[in-house]
Amino acid sequence: MAINLKGKSLLTLKDYTKEEIEYLVDLAITLKKKKMMGIKGDLLEGKNIALIFEKPSTRTRCAFTVGCVDEGGHPEYLGKNDIQLGHKESVEDTARVLGRLFDGIEFRGFQQETVNTLAAYSGVPVWNGLTDTYHPTQILADLMTIKETFGTLKGIKMTYIGDGRNNMGNSLMIGCSKIGIDFSIIAPSFLWPDQDLVKECEGFAKASGSKITIIDDINEVEGSHAVYTDVWVSMGEEDKSKERVEQLRPYQVNADLMAKALPEAVAMHCLPAVKGYEITEEVFEKFSKTIFDEAENRMHTIKAVMVATCGR
Ligand code: CP
Ligand code: NVA
Repeated sequence: MAINLKGKSLLTLKDYTKEEIEYLVDLAITLKKKKMMGIKGDLLEGKNIALIFEKPSTRTRCAFTVGCVDEGGHPEYLGKNDIQLGHKESVEDTARVLGRLFDGIEFRGFQQETVNTLAAYSGVPVWNGLTDTYHPTQILADLMTIKETFGTLKGIKMTYIGDGRNNMGNSLMIGCSKIGIDFSIIAPSFLWPDQDLVKECEGFAKASGSKITIIDDINEVEGSHAVYTDVWVSMGEEDKSKERVEQLRPYQVNADLMAKALPEAVAMHCLPAVKGYEITEEVFEKFSKTIFDEAENRMHTIKAVMVATCGR
């Protein structure tokens, strides 16, 4: 069946099928080759894209900007102090205004509810550039990087170590279970993901023929192709810094841990990284190619999402 994503928002990968996710990853690989060949694109010509950021960003902001310009579109950055949203104007009204002027809207911020409301009221595709709950565009870049590294997404096992209930833990669990990657979370039990989300993802995993494991034993990385980690303290949770560091100190990705994974295993990180905490500098540098491939692939996958959902 032909994939048609025109007009569709990306709020969480829960709303995407396995085939749609594969399509976006493959489109990103094609767009990457096109850029490598120096071919200037026009797939977003005449399109205006709003980029709303309540939280800071390096990769996501730059990926949307460069991806949009590469294909002839116009990105407009709207920082949290630049617009009325959250000050004088409701999310619903901001959505209706931006929807009249722009062809697509990216939102990064705190509440998932905000990005859902933007999508419900704007009438144009809305892309989640990270909320407290989900980070779907990051997952597309990670899947692309796995495909480039191992040549396939089939038969892969990923283990995510650290804060198992943050946006990255949630979104990797959704993405991997949808696509058919065996996925484990290793975290202390009080940082495990929400039970309802685990159940939902178990349903996705059953359909794709993969499995989900949630454990607290740091030694259980055997058979992993990818060992993934993220910061112990996410944006907006800075008040929890001290306790998180104490709780997660045993859950560091270091050389001893990597030695227990497959010989061909890679360490992955969405960045920014706090080296010496969730990952040692040694492991980070050893796998820096993979980690910075992920960062670059943010741009190719985000470009693919914009092209597929609002391109010509
Ligand atoms: N990985 C990621 O989302 O990075 P930024 O916070 O820099 O956008
Ligand atoms: N969990 C991290 C991801 C950063 C890309 C955060 O929300 O800060």
